[in-house]
Amino acid sequence: MCGIVGYVGSKQAAEIILEGLARLEYRGYDSAGMAVYDGEKIRISKTAGRLKVLEESTRGGETMPGVLGIGHTRWATHGIPNETNAHPHFNKDETITVVHNGIIENYIALRDLLKKHGYEFQTETDTEVVAHLLDYYDKGDPLETITKVLHRVEGSYALGIIFASHPDTLYAVRKDSPLIVGRDDSGCFIASDVPAILKHTRRVFYVDDQEIAVMKADDLAFYSIYGERIEKEEVYVDWDADAAEKGGYEHFMLKEMNEQPKTVTDTLSPRIRDGRIVIEELNMSDEELAAVKKIHIVACGSAYHAGVTGKYVIEGLARIPVEVDLASEFRYRDPILEEGAMVIVISQSGETADTLAALREARNRGFRVLAIVNVVGSSIAREADAVMYTWAGPEIAVATTKAYSAQLINLYLLALKMAHVRGRLDDDELVDMIEDLKCLPQQIELLLGNQKRIQRFANRYIGAKDIFFIGRGIDYSIALEGSLKLKEISYVHSEAYAAGELKHGTISLIEEGTLVTAIATQPELFAKTVSNIVEVKSRGAFVLAVTTEGNDEIEKNADYVIYVPQTNPYFMNSLAIVPLQMFGYYVSVGKGYDADHPRNLAKSVTVE
Ligand code: AGP
Repeated sequence: MCGIVGYVGSKQAAEIILEGLARLEYRGYDSAGMAVYDGEKIRISKTAGRLKVLEESTRGGETMPGVLGIGHTRWATHGIPNETNAHPHFNKDETITVVHNGIIENYIALRDLLKKHGYEFQTETDTEVVAHLLDYYDKGDPLETITKVLHRVEGSYALGIIFASHPDTLYAVRKDSPLIVGRDDSGCFIASDVPAILKHTRRVFYVDDQEIAVMKADDLAFYSIYGERIEKEEVYVDWDADAAEKGGYEHFMLKEMNEQPKTVTDTLSPRIRDGRIVIEELNMSDEELAAVKKIHIVACGSAYHAGVTGKYVIEGLARIPVEVDLASEFRYRDPILEEGAMVIVISQSGETADTLAALREARNRGFRVLAIVNVVGSSIAREADAVMYTWAGPEIAVATTKAYSAQLINLYLLALKMAHVRGRLDDDELVDMIEDLKCLPQQIELLLGNQKRIQRFANRYIGAKDIFFIGRGIDYSIALEGSLKLKEISYVHSEAYAAGELKHGTISLIEEGTLVTAIATQPELFAKTVSNIVEVKSRGAFVLAVTTEGNDEIEKNADYVIYVPQTNPYFMNSLAIVPLQMFGYYVSVGKGYDADHPRNLAKSVTVE
């Protein structure tokens, strides 16, 4: 995610901003910038690349004198990572400047409106729209201006704003993206996260959605978006700096698992408008989409597992044949790609060598490649014909969780869009399924509430030697990911098997007490999977079942059951994977391992 730091007070703002942004580097970014009011005007300095470049270009802030400033490290979502797109952004007269963390979902409509009023745009970002909208509404009262803007923008935001007309005041507001306010004897601070200001103060205020903070060197006030004064409680932060970077979580993986509701919302919402699915970045007309004869999904690891889910969902809904390949196989097996085929590559990092090679192989043969990627401007994103970003924000833990969940969302959206343009889903059916998708964030939130129960169960298996995951259909794809999550961070041997395949050999490995995790969320296959549970039970297995609420009968056969909320069977992976992610995490932690940095693994596998 982007990082924001701001200050107003008696000290030099630039140095405080640079220090604070350095404490937010863990959030991941690709460019940086800051704006400081120097007594006469607002000065801005922005650079692509690491924060060090900004520090050097401003000589540690010396070239940016002033006591009022805002700074930003940008994790690109709209617009490639470069100096132009870096924040802060100015209005035309350079009298208003803003930094932003989040996604303005209706920025295209607002940009079109502003263009009609003569506004010109210098960047590809959604944030620049906010700078011009502030200008558009500014009549001399910044608080009034800000409230008017907030009634127009949709989406998620944390904003730091400076008006040259009010050079003693710093403004900030948030909705869905994090923002805190701090204060000490010298003045007031804003930041995306506690670590940025811990060096200066532990006295913070957690800004709630659509609360506006108005800060001066010796004054601090909060207002609603209706301009009403709000009283807020000051909180004393007793975290140490390292813990604070993880937002108080022990590991980034735990933090990122808990960010999944927001990740799903951020990836889903901008692509749903008036009961329709809008995927502008596809650059394909409905007719072109309807003409696709076959889809090849190519990826590695968890991205491959998402692709396996994609196969079941796209084939089930749109009735288009889908072939899923491991990228390391695809690139060397001289694949048969026929006219009318579409290739989809999936990659969190956008730098995985095997997946990049597969993309190049397909493009060299003249086939259109769509990339589902999390890192804006990454190699795969740059070389694909079209990119459908997962807006998960930077994922620090090697074991992917939130990015995987966002990949699933993009695959569901593609499947629904294709099914609808091909007449496989009518308008009403599409609306119903979109409603199911909209419920996922809250359902994931509910599942995240089971962490203590999952941890207790996981602690039973920190000494396990073999753990199996079985399932049929989409449940098989869930088993694949659940197994990988466990083994890659706990080093417990694990295998995922199509439940119907177990009897063709692997069942001979089941011994007394072997843990078998049976995923049974697919109504059509439930009875079959229960019979597989009976099969392994008769050989001494201990069975953990993951099924949907209401399937209590499974308790006759399974030894331990985790229930997940009901949703459309096609979307079940998004829910069933959550307890399995937590299971893998807590086995790893129970064994005393660093779940964020598992041995032998890298976050991005840029070698063959
Ligand atoms: C997933 O938890 C693993 N870290 C790994 O399997 C990963 O999914 C794989 O290396 C692909 O990475 P990518 O999504 O960045 O291409």
